Amino acid sequence: MTQVIAGAPSSNFFLDGNFSPVAEERDADNMEVIGTIPTDLAGHFLRVGPNPRYVFSEAAYHTFDGDGMIHAIEFSGGTARYRNRFVRNEGFLLEQERGDWIYKGMNSMLDPTPSRVPEGAPSSKNLANTAFTYHNNTLYALHEPSQPTIIELPGLETTGPTDFDGKLKHPFSAHPKVDQKSGEMMTFGYAFQAPYVTYSVIDANGELVHTTPVTIPKPVFMHDFAVSEKYSLFLDFPITLDIERAMAGGPALGFEPEHGSRIGVMPRYGTDADVRWFDVKTGVVVHTANAWDDGDEVVLQASRSKTADIAGAGTSEGNNLADNQGQLYEWRINLKTGAVVERSLSDTPCDFTRVNDAYACHPTQYIYAAVFNPVRPFSFDGVMKYDNASNITTEFKFGDQRFGGEAVFAPRVNASTEDDGYLVCFVHDEANNQSECLILSAQDVSAGPVARIMMPFRVPYGFHSGWVKAA
Ligand SMILES: [Fe+2]
Repeated sequence: MTQVIAGAPSSNFFLDGNFSPVAEERDADNMEVIGTIPTDLAGHFLRVGPNPRYVFSEAAYHTFDGDGMIHAIEFSGGTARYRNRFVRNEGFLLEQERGDWIYKGMNSMLDPTPSRVPEGAPSSKNLANTAFTYHNNTLYALHEPSQPTIIELPGLETTGPTDFDGKLKHPFSAHPKVDQKSGEMMTFGYAFQAPYVTYSVIDANGELVHTTPVTIPKPVFMHDFAVSEKYSLFLDFPITLDIERAMAGGPALGFEPEHGSRIGVMPRYGTDADVRWFDVKTGVVVHTANAWDDGDEVVLQASRSKTADIAGAGTSEGNNLADNQGQLYEWRINLKTGAVVERSLSDTPCDFTRVNDAYACHPTQYIYAAVFNPVRPFSFDGVMKYDNASNITTEFKFGDQRFGGEAVFAPRVNASTEDDGYLVCFVHDEANNQSECLILSAQDVSAGPVARIMMPFRVPYGFHSGWVKAA
């Protein structure tokens, strides 16, 4: 039996220090605050991430395999209330019942140890550990090989996965796009088997109304996409998925630049035959920020790196962090002339790109992102804001031995402009093992936090954040 001991040191980077999981589910209020929680911050700050309970092998554990745990802070009238809960999908519950591992995990697929998955149980865990989307008054926790999992607010109870009345026939990206002006949610999924990409639109009432395959030549790790008011954009960049390579002892995901990079542009309700592909310079995009229409052009902004170490999540030996860490980048695709103009926007290494969710799929002036630490893999030591009008990047660094995660934009109550609100994120001070929730003014990021909530319990590093404003 291998139970992960919460908080214990580990030789596995992703089980050590503040990557180590927590075992308890807790509630807290009346937390110590340095500064003042704004009274016009009203809603739920959410952060999800891997929090493994039982692992097949501590050494082979991959951070993508951890059970999803949600940490949430509910803000109201200048107060904050904290909760953390596991996502209770079937695979997690089966392992809880057994008190041991059942699923082996992505690095141990070829291990000869017989499977423990009971007959009739799902062949893999729907971990719901990656990101959130909020659509049609429903909160979903997402895991890209799986169906979206419905989570209840404020209590974070798991309702369970949904297939949209049987209409969802493909995996569901961790990064669907909600166009809040039209009410539609656009999503896609990628797979090892053809069709390698499938795309769907869910209408404002939560009904899946359109699905189409999108043909690409070979399976790739397509973690994110982008959507403008008129078009959906698919990134056929060469992080390839190769089962044979994996069977031969290599990584299932590998960077093969010789395959080139293309962006596919399809009308929102288009089909496979409508996709126009545009060759672009080869690189890697893990996360996009936003896309919008501008006359004859579609504009895409994202964090782009020269290469990537997806299989090792940045920790592989010989991994060149500088080449793996993305920087903000723009593609302007002219649909009339077929020309693509590419340019770098900022030199600051960053990922976990966000915009004000209310403006997604429409022109945005600002991108918010987590700033990479240049030395330690998968570690962010600041938050930044990029301004498309001035091309200026401003940032706030968390300080020595302080690391954080994705900051989400939370609009001020009755916000009037795009950046009229706050950035909210978790930070961990590794010197004194103290987790904090920071609230910064989105209009003055470099000024630092207006409030630091001292968390009474450790909040491990995780993946994506979300914001659901108060009803
Ligand atoms: Fe992601």
